[in-house]
Amino acid sequence: TAGIGTDANRIREAAAYIAGKAEGLKPQIGLILGSGLGVLANLIEDPIVLDYGDIPHFPVSTVEGHAGELVLGSVKGKPVVMMKGRFHGYEGYGPETVSFPVRVMKELGVTTLIVTNAAGGINEHFQVGDLMVISDHINFTGRNPLIGPNDNALGVRFPDMSEAYSKRLRRIAHQVAERQGLKLQEGVYLGLLGPTYETPAEIRMMRILGGDAVGMSTVPEVIVARHAGIEVLGFSCISNMAAGMLDQPLSHAEVMETTERVKPKFLQLVLGIIEELQ
Ligand code: 6GU
Repeated sequence: TAGIGTDANRIREAAAYIAGKAEGLKPQIGLILGSGLGVLANLIEDPIVLDYGDIPHFPVSTVEGHAGELVLGSVKGKPVVMMKGRFHGYEGYGPETVSFPVRVMKELGVTTLIVTNAAGGINEHFQVGDLMVISDHINFTGRNPLIGPNDNALGVRFPDMSEAYSKRLRRIAHQVAERQGLKLQEGVYLGLLGPTYETPAEIRMMRILGGDAVGMSTVPEVIVARHAGIEVLGFSCISNMAAGMLDQPLSHAEVMETTERVKPKFLQLVLGIIEELQ
């Protein structure tokens, strides 16, 4: 149908624009870093910075003061492409828009995607400030970026999600964390649309359903990455305990404070893992 061709063309046009600016750099690792970890962009060697607004068909951030940027360059000698600023369902974007940059990353040659987010802790053994490698997710958004006609050139109609988060990469993450003396939890990320945080009753339900952490991102990007055959590694920073677990209200300020405090060890972990890849 016209819709399929149009999607593939949008992806190609965006990727062609980026490749034209990339000075021969072919990124193999894609990074979508949530909540405060955008500073990793500062560690990119010889960065090429592209405004989302200049990339054909790229969504443009509306909420945060500054428009987002795509940064290409090398980290630990490895070619990467990084999203500085991501899109969320609660901003009003559909899941296909939220995940469009992942399609473009695939077209650019990305084979590994590292995603991070801030999340509320549901698991009673977690503490605020813990890092969690995502073992699996529960899509609680009620949406899916793959709804609609399937373009077989992009991936299969019914993608396998048995190992959405790569065992191989999780093992590397644990090895690097151990070497760095860093406590690394592992668990299931439950993704919702937001923008409200959950009620205590919802959190009790989510714990029974197998969630260890809850957040408002990541799921659409990972679904599209798996459809595209990209290997995924995901981390949550437990920025606060979920509703009803502590005798205090939730606030975005706490989320920001914790991610700011945890940022150095989170960055070290991600850098250590990039160093180990391939
Ligand atoms: Cl408790 N819930 C959701 N949905 N997102 C979060 C969170 C909680 N904490 C950080 N992000």
